[in-house]
Amino acid sequence: MLFRTKKTVDIDTSALPRHIGIIMDGNGRWAKKRGLPRSAGHKAGAEALKKIITEANNLGVEYITVYAFSTENWKRPKEEVDYLMGLLMDYLINAEKTLAGENVVIRAIGSRKELSEEMQRQIIKTEEFTKNNTGIVMNIALNYGGREEILHAVKDISRAVKAGEISADDINERNISDALYTGGQPDVDLLIRTSGEMRLSNFMLWQVSYAEMWFTDKLWPDFKPADLRKAIYDFQNRGRRFGGV
Ligand code: FPP
Repeated sequence: MLFRTKKTVDIDTSALPRHIGIIMDGNGRWAKKRGLPRSAGHKAGAEALKKIITEANNLGVEYITVYAFSTENWKRPKEEVDYLMGLLMDYLINAEKTLAGENVVIRAIGSRKELSEEMQRQIIKTEEFTKNNTGIVMNIALNYGGREEILHAVKDISRAVKAGEISADDINERNISDALYTGGQPDVDLLIRTSGEMRLSNFMLWQVSYAEMWFTDKLWPDFKPADLRKAIYDFQNRGRRFGGV
């Protein structure tokens, strides 16, 4: 089926990227341009995100992972960290009501033990509340780092080897993928980064191996559903060869 968009790019809904990853960058610059505190940029970023999730879900995308807070983001001023954590908390609480109504499955990926107990409880609650939904799976990368994720997987697999559950020779790409926070989900097909930066920043290092990368100069709060459709359209018009010819 062809999905005609307002800007007349035709998305083929039978050939969607199954998994989209987004590095939502530029909230701070968006706020600065307007003479506002960085927190205002994050707030606008959270609003932009809601619309993108709704759009991706309506199009029929199966998985979306958004980089909300990296393991490195703790280095930011305490005031900004506290604000971001508050926003994430609100998002998880509201997601229970609004996104659940839209049939979204919400999951948090990343290391949880450094998060507040309140946040850890809310994550479990939101995940539980939305787990039987049948729409898009939204992974919120929260205290997430790609290397930390791989390290975590290696430790889990090493324990299984030590316990004699598997032998070292049985370790393969499949069981490494399964041991990641995204275990059971497909790799990322399309990786989007906003704000003109062209770095991976420790995001889904294993899962983006064959992802198409799509960059825009737009700052995250300015990223609209039409931009998502354009990224998908461009994805559909690239030739993916997975190392073949
Ligand atoms: C990068 O912009 C953005 C972040 C570090 C946080 C992303 C968070 C949100 C979009 C809002 C909250 C998310 C959820 C899931 C509710 P930056 O601050 O590095 O911007 P800059 O590079 O312009 O300074």
